[in-house]
Amino acid sequence: MENTKILSIATLVTVVFLISIISEKTEAAKNEFVTCGSILKLINTDLKLRLHSHDVKYGSGSGQQSVTAVEVSDDNNSHWLVRPMTGETCKRGAPIKCNTNIRLQHVATKKNLHSHFFTSPLSGNQEVSCYGDDEGEGDSGDNWTVVCNNDYWRRDTPVKFRHVDTGSYLAGSGRTFGRPINGQGEIVGVSSQYGAYTDWQASEGLFVHPGELLPHQHAVHTEL
Ligand SMILES: *[C@@H]1O[C@H](CO)[C@@H](O)[C@H](O)[C@H]1NC(C)=O
Ligand SMILES: *[C@@H]1O[C@H](CO)[C@@H](O)[C@H](O)[C@H]1NC(C)=O
Repeated sequence: MENTKILSIATLVTVVFLISIISEKTEAAKNEFVTCGSILKLINTDLKLRLHSHDVKYGSGSGQQSVTAVEVSDDNNSHWLVRPMTGETCKRGAPIKCNTNIRLQHVATKKNLHSHFFTSPLSGNQEVSCYGDDEGEGDSGDNWTVVCNNDYWRRDTPVKFRHVDTGSYLAGSGRTFGRPINGQGEIVGVSSQYGAYTDWQASEGLFVHPGELLPHQHAVHTEL
């Protein structure tokens, strides 16, 4: 009788221990990926600049809202929301698979990261802009493929973004603007993924996980 009791307590302790290991592992796994609905910053790993936009229009090319790159980490114009491409859905909190088409919506202005056959202002590459209406609806020029070699878009590994319509890769050009956006880096589309400055890593952000309703609820908050 006594023996059985001891045995069942030992079993219970083992089960509780195993459950806690499993849930810790799940917790860690959830934090490894960029998920649908996440709001994040994107750092160009070579230039150490964050993808940025703001209510400043290009004075050349399309005249659309400009996209640049900045050094500071705490600028709220550097937040991007990971959304499915138009017509698709993705489960909020679901990890984004490599080679998925997505949209990146600039949180502050609600416009989407966009590109098209216009010439960029400084280096003469392909222009990258922000485009769309107040509801965040633009056109096919807003679709980008997340290019990576793993199963999913990992937070600790740089990815590339290939523009669906034109096949160009999102890149920094290494050139910087003068006034009124003095010191900000030019962002362009380049034809080769092996070109310089095409690597982007997820940074400070709100990463939503399965079962969470909105990015600002219950999200893991890392030095935003
Ligand atoms: C972003 O920052 C600016 C000033 O730095 C502030 O005026 C503005 O309210 C902020 N916007 C949001 C959405 O936090
Ligand atoms: C891209 O976006 C547009 C609308 O924004 C959509 O109609 C189109 O089917 C999308 N997909 C591809 C692969 O271009």
